[in-house]
Amino acid sequence: MRELYTDLVAAACEIENTWLAGNYDTDLFFECVLKHLTELDFSDLATVDAQMEVLRLPEVKALQTLSTFSNLYVKLFDNGRFWIEILNWDDLHVNAHDHDFSGVQFQLLGSALSIKHDFSIIERHGAFYAGQTSIRSGHLWEEGSNSIVRHGNIDPHTVLHLGSPSTSLIVRTHPTRRYGSQKNYFSDCAGHYDVNTIPMRKNLTALRLLGKRDCSSFSRQLTRLLKEQSLAENLFMLVNLDDICFEDEQSSEIVLEYGSKGRNEGMLVKSVLKKNCSSFFTNIAQKYAHLGFDERLAINTLSACYSIEDFRRLEKDISDQRPASNLSRAVEVFAANIDDRDRKGLLKRLGVMGLEDVLKPRVAA
Ligand SMILES: [Fe+2]
Repeated sequence: MRELYTDLVAAACEIENTWLAGNYDTDLFFECVLKHLTELDFSDLATVDAQMEVLRLPEVKALQTLSTFSNLYVKLFDNGRFWIEILNWDDLHVNAHDHDFSGVQFQLLGSALSIKHDFSIIERHGAFYAGQTSIRSGHLWEEGSNSIVRHGNIDPHTVLHLGSPSTSLIVRTHPTRRYGSQKNYFSDCAGHYDVNTIPMRKNLTALRLLGKRDCSSFSRQLTRLLKEQSLAENLFMLVNLDDICFEDEQSSEIVLEYGSKGRNEGMLVKSVLKKNCSSFFTNIAQKYAHLGFDERLAINTLSACYSIEDFRRLEKDISDQRPASNLSRAVEVFAANIDDRDRKGLLKRLGVMGLEDVLKPRVAA
């Protein structure tokens, strides 16, 4: 492991030298990484067992930080301009987002579906953007593949981790402030992630506790916060509480009433409702993972689609890469092999997402 780590650090120094020659231009970073790292075989770092060995190296031990990103986050190298990290995913997904950095992702283990989005802005209010999110393309990451992570709002993307585990090594720049803080994208709006402050986190934890212990206080506090907070803060709060906000009639009414205040609030609540449906799809994909890879892929795919055109786009892109895959057929097989309650839930959510036609036979043109 020491030998591999020494090779990795040597390659990082080469990246640094090449990037310096390019004036540390963020736009050039991924080229420098691909030039020096494509030939290096990282496969020995793919397992958690191997990463525990790397964590024994004193210089790696000193780099570790607490992170809730992925199921296990290990930082391998950091020279103050860029760093190298490993992300271990176990049935977790990353909703649509963009980045204030650029880099290259190497898929070490398992597979993932990377979906690129377009977002058309209707209007902006501070950290909140009303607009429409659609799918531009989909690409399966297989073991040994790599992909470029571009900075700013060029490539908003969703990553659905399909393997259990799915492990990536990422070489990335430190955040570049001029690209602004990261945004998260939903069906009908987007919001900057910097509203995720410690007081916001405390409120979310408190609301979750009240939701379990004291429903009337939960409703009162939720109503107050919806009045006191900005659109971006309300978006962040509701997408993080969507599982409890739509659980009972009273909470649903509060959220829907907020959504009736105006166009922006309406688009915000529509986005939260669709995010709630997305979570349903990823949860049942996990629950019935034994049905097979294509079925798991198809149901996970639904979580990122907001129109039948989105679904057809992904269906085409995936079949270009995996000719044997047929997403529509896989959704049918999935629906036929789950219990009645989940099937009803699936049909209901397909309706909310505007995806009813996924289960209807296609008429030949
Ligand atoms: Fe990303």
